[in-house]
Amino acid sequence: MSTLRDRLRAEASIVGEAPLFHPSLAPDDPQELFREWLITALDAGVPEPHAATLSTVDEHGRPDARVLVLKNVTDGGAFEIATGSESAKGAQLHANPNVALTFYWTPLARSVRIRGVATPASAEESAADFRARNPAAKAIALAGRQSAPLTDVAERDRLVAENLAALQADPAQVSPEWTLWRIRPFALEFWQGAPTRNHLRLQYTRTDEGWRRQELWA
Ligand SMILES: Cc1cc2nc3c(=O)[nH]c(=O)nc-3n(C[C@H](O)[C@H](O)[C@H](O)COP(=O)(O)O)c2cc1C
Repeated sequence: MSTLRDRLRAEASIVGEAPLFHPSLAPDDPQELFREWLITALDAGVPEPHAATLSTVDEHGRPDARVLVLKNVTDGGAFEIATGSESAKGAQLHANPNVALTFYWTPLARSVRIRGVATPASAEESAADFRARNPAAKAIALAGRQSAPLTDVAERDRLVAENLAALQADPAQVSPEWTLWRIRPFALEFWQGAPTRNHLRLQYTRTDEGWRRQELWA
């Protein structure tokens, strides 16, 4: 019987076929390249291409990470995400806005790593994002307890049902905890896997003069 280790060893990584990418021809602005790669992932039918891992740090400086969805990329090149302020990540973002956001698009063999600083959007912008969510997600968020210990499932179900009914009566209702965040990047890396293992890595770093671009060893 094969062990888990054997099975993992036998599993292929960096599967699929990477689209054409010439780092030397990449645009000066990383936002342009990000949009291009995200649209390629959307067009290729990559499942949940907007899903990304958001890394934060807790009050002891220990990293924490979870998957969430990218809401938009602004014209100014900021990455928008949204979450409840009462959640673990919400508290971490308020205490320390330094974050990383990581995408992986398979089978395109592409990943994008973003490092930046998060700033909360205005209450109106957060409310607009909340209103665009589906009713079930809104009803849970309205309970305002994301990441709190779930000690009473029946109470949870009752609260969610109550919130769903309240939303039917007033669909414009918003959770004051729901916050849209904008991540202004200071560094991005575009990574594309190659069967030769000579993977392509293009890093952009923000400087006073604009974006500096450099390729990295795989
Ligand atoms: C595909 C996917 C998308 C998700 N999108 C969000 C999201 O947009 N906002 C959010 O708060 N949580 C989202 N979650 C749930 C988070 O991963 C996480 O469980 C939750 O936010 C609590 O994290 P925290 O305890 O670190 O705050 C998503 C999870 C998955 C797997």
